[in-house]
Amino acid sequence: MRKKIVAGNWKMNTSIAEGVELAKGIVAKVNEISKGVSLIVAPPFTHLTSVAEVLKDSPVALSAQNCADQPKGAFTGEVAASMLKDAGCTYTILGHSERRQYYGENSEKLVRKMALAFENGLKVIFCVGEKLEERNEGRHFDVVASQISEVLFGLTPKQMAHVIIAYEPVWAIGTGVTATSEQAQEIHAFIRKTLAAHFGDDVADNTTILYGGSCKPSNAKELFACPDIDGGLIGGASLKVDDFIGIAQSF
Ligand code: PGA
Repeated sequence: MRKKIVAGNWKMNTSIAEGVELAKGIVAKVNEISKGVSLIVAPPFTHLTSVAEVLKDSPVALSAQNCADQPKGAFTGEVAASMLKDAGCTYTILGHSERRQYYGENSEKLVRKMALAFENGLKVIFCVGEKLEERNEGRHFDVVASQISEVLFGLTPKQMAHVIIAYEPVWAIGTGVTATSEQAQEIHAFIRKTLAAHFGDDVADNTTILYGGSCKPSNAKELFACPDIDGGLIGGASLKVDDFIGIAQSF
């Protein structure tokens, strides 16, 4: 059975003190969510070691938001996968649309990042999703299929066990507009079918596929009730303990 997961992507928000408080608040309420649901938080790089300390004896896992596409050396401003592991991360997010859009993240770089994440024992939350014009032109299935095939099809089935996919339609991220549960379920089922065609049913059935894009306590229940939606990657609503926990209680 695939895992149900709710992950909080804090993006470039909170001071270290605020991040520590947020993590403490989540840990304090983790027993209010069902045992079958796992929580992950992804604070900014500078907060990782402090938040790791808060999460230490809790079931809440730590993720980075990105990692470098090189192992180490003269790459000013980058943070290596090995450093993230050292800081206490279990996961890193890769391929978030904000990184694709503003920082030139493409499939070629993502292949290298993914390999380094695995080499350093990190699991990956791999983001895919179409822009508004791509959906309006009816190209959303093609866009998502390419994002998946270009990066994930080079992996082994064993490596796929360390990948969570997050489908995040770019037009729904931070906009307050959510995909309808029908739109989300349709593309989640398509992603699973794409995985099944390449890796077989076992990998497809065991891969957790999260929905992201203006997910909040008020719409999470309907989204999470869909058969191929296994949880959420939450931006804005992950910055408030009650909203984040409320979303996790929506299963
Ligand atoms: P949002 O962000 O929940 O604020 O729309 C989701 C994400 O980008 O992970």
